[in-house]
Amino acid sequence: MASYESVLDSIGATPLLRLTRAAQGLRPRVYVKPEWQNPGGSVKDRAALAMLRRAEAEGALRPGGTVVEVTSGNTGIGLALAAAHLGYRAVIFTSSTIAREKRAQLTAYGAELRLVDAFVPKDHPDSVHAQGQRFAEETPGAWLAHQYDNPANPAAHYATTGPEIWADTDGAVTHFVATVGTGGTISGTGRYLKEVSGGRVRVTGADPLTSAYSGGDGSQKYIEGAGHFVHPEAARDLWPRSLDTGVIDDYAPVDDQSAIDAIRRLARTEGILAGGSSGVALAAALRLAEHLTEEDTVVVLLPDSGRAYLSTYFDDDWLAANGFTAPTAEGGPGEPTVGAHATATPDVEADESAADAVRRLTAAGVADDDVVLVVHRRAGRVLAPHPSDVIGWTTPARLRGAATVAGAARRLGPRLGGRLALTAPAVTAWAATDGEVALVLDRGRVAGTVTRRRLRRDPAHRTAGHAG
Ligand SMILES: Cc1ncc(COP(=O)(O)O)c(C=O)c1O
Repeated sequence: MASYESVLDSIGATPLLRLTRAAQGLRPRVYVKPEWQNPGGSVKDRAALAMLRRAEAEGALRPGGTVVEVTSGNTGIGLALAAAHLGYRAVIFTSSTIAREKRAQLTAYGAELRLVDAFVPKDHPDSVHAQGQRFAEETPGAWLAHQYDNPANPAAHYATTGPEIWADTDGAVTHFVATVGTGGTISGTGRYLKEVSGGRVRVTGADPLTSAYSGGDGSQKYIEGAGHFVHPEAARDLWPRSLDTGVIDDYAPVDDQSAIDAIRRLARTEGILAGGSSGVALAAALRLAEHLTEEDTVVVLLPDSGRAYLSTYFDDDWLAANGFTAPTAEGGPGEPTVGAHATATPDVEADESAADAVRRLTAAGVADDDVVLVVHRRAGRVLAPHPSDVIGWTTPARLRGAATVAGAARRLGPRLGGRLALTAPAVTAWAATDGEVALVLDRGRVAGTVTRRRLRRDPAHRTAGHAG
């Protein structure tokens, strides 16, 4: 066992674990690199320490100073633990949507948390980024880590993650698979592995299906950390400078359900409990490995542990509520479901003219009182809308009397956010929802709508003795 002079010295040097059961039937050797073995519980400890050390060396952070960062959690945790150890104040700006366990870990290290509404474009003055930047500028002795554009972030992986993988495979690695958030991990590790192997190692960016990096529509995602979200009202789509796209040979888009299935199977077949972005990387790697040979060695980087996601990806109720299936759950009793009453629903874009929208709907045969969804415009790989991109619902009749599409939109019921899972029992769903129309979710995306009136008419109500 190694002994270290401080917790900071124990960052890095994570092992490789060979997959046996999860990679059964595949020809190449497949290893995972469990980055939760870092003291803060994720790959981001490496970048956090490197950015902080460089700021000290450059004089941007001095004794008594304040470490500031805008983060979805893990980088903040790395910075908070380093700040606690070195005696700096840490102020972390994050959104209220990050896993509760990560927020609790930040405060456990003594960091101050500033929770900010996540749903504001990055270039808006109220965005989490703008608020973090303003605070850093106005606070004497403050240093903003800026992981998205900080060269010390990929440099940390060039200096540590890459050499570890090369040494621990005795130079046999042929394929490296990682997700892309700020791009620090894949850019630094990938560049090192390509250089040391004379260009032989191939680097795959495992990307959520919705992520703009691999041509997705940039809509909201269920997997934290990985991929690139584009706010529908963003003036410009800014990609991080920490990402070197030249290092990535190809992207492998992975849908949320496949990522969730991959980590649930990994936990049950290998005893390895990994987080959601690990599922994206693993699903991509196992798909890639099907086309490789016995000569190949695949290394998959797993950024954090499943411990922070026990109440989401590993929770059958959370999965069911969002229309995902649990591969390990028992089948239901066969009651009538919301799906049996749902109808595919046309949509109109919030910023198109009401007159154009009506013309289009009429040409498509949509009746005057049919439900129509009002959604944010998205470009990229075509996907069913994410519920956060749905502004409300309307009908061609309402549109006809309105100046703008947005002006004709009616809100979905506030309870449950007006969302019901396709597989939810119809009777329970009727009792749980309010409003006239609810979105029907299939694997996290909007498959259609159901009206409260249709749910109420479900024959199961009569047999169950419900009042109308
Ligand atoms: C859970 C998780 N997965 C993946 C990533 C992506 O890593 P990187 O920012 O190095 O691209 C992050 C980054 O914050 C993360 O927190």
